[in-house]
Amino acid sequence: MKIKTAEFIISNAKVDKCPDSKLPEYAFIGRSNVGKSSLINMLTEHKKLAMVSGKPGKTRLINHFLINKEWHLVDLPGYGYARVSKKEKKVFQQFITDYFKKRKQLVSAFVLVDIRHEAQKIDLEFMQWLGENAIPFSVVFTKADKLKPNVIDKNIEAYKANLLNTWESLPPIFVTSSSKKIGQEEVLNYIQEVNNQ
Ligand code: GTP
Ligand code: MG
Repeated sequence: MKIKTAEFIISNAKVDKCPDSKLPEYAFIGRSNVGKSSLINMLTEHKKLAMVSGKPGKTRLINHFLINKEWHLVDLPGYGYARVSKKEKKVFQQFITDYFKKRKQLVSAFVLVDIRHEAQKIDLEFMQWLGENAIPFSVVFTKADKLKPNVIDKNIEAYKANLLNTWESLPPIFVTSSSKKIGQEEVLNYIQEVNNQ
């Protein structure tokens, strides 16, 4: 898929206020600082479409972007950020789960995980929760520029083995780097394929 247009539409804290539209929607989710906003900028070839920061907890709202006037891409706040208060964490968690439960337009989620780390409990639990709520998802490894190819392969194999402890089959898996522009075509073509189904 070629990106012809990518526009910011709206940010908000309530799923009921998300755009009232029939367009298919894809959401990017994962731990704080994993690289969700950076990946969105890389995919859309817009350096500043989504806000990026070295400090975790940058994205705090549900952000809708309209791509090629055909589908919505959604940037979400990260989960599992230790430095926000417990109360704030609860509110965050609530609106993320609300979004996934209520958003009828959502076609599929992309769960981002840092390729440098072994499988984290919070990510596996989140995937489990998506499964229980019948929400399709893919796994997107981020920051592949940080590792040598042989280490990437080894980490992916270990991750797959871990997933197969609980899942009968593997979800689609993508390897990406926002700084080296790796994985753009693969993710976009996957979205195109699903949109065409
Ligand atoms: P929150 O909105 O806080 O949940 O974070 P996020 O998941 O949106 O992460 P963000 O895109 O803001 O990136 C976090 C940090 O990781 C920034 O310092 C980015 O520059 C860096 N980063 C993101 N993607 C990559 C990547 O592919 N390679 C490298 N080397 N750094 C990356
Ligand atoms: Mg972000």
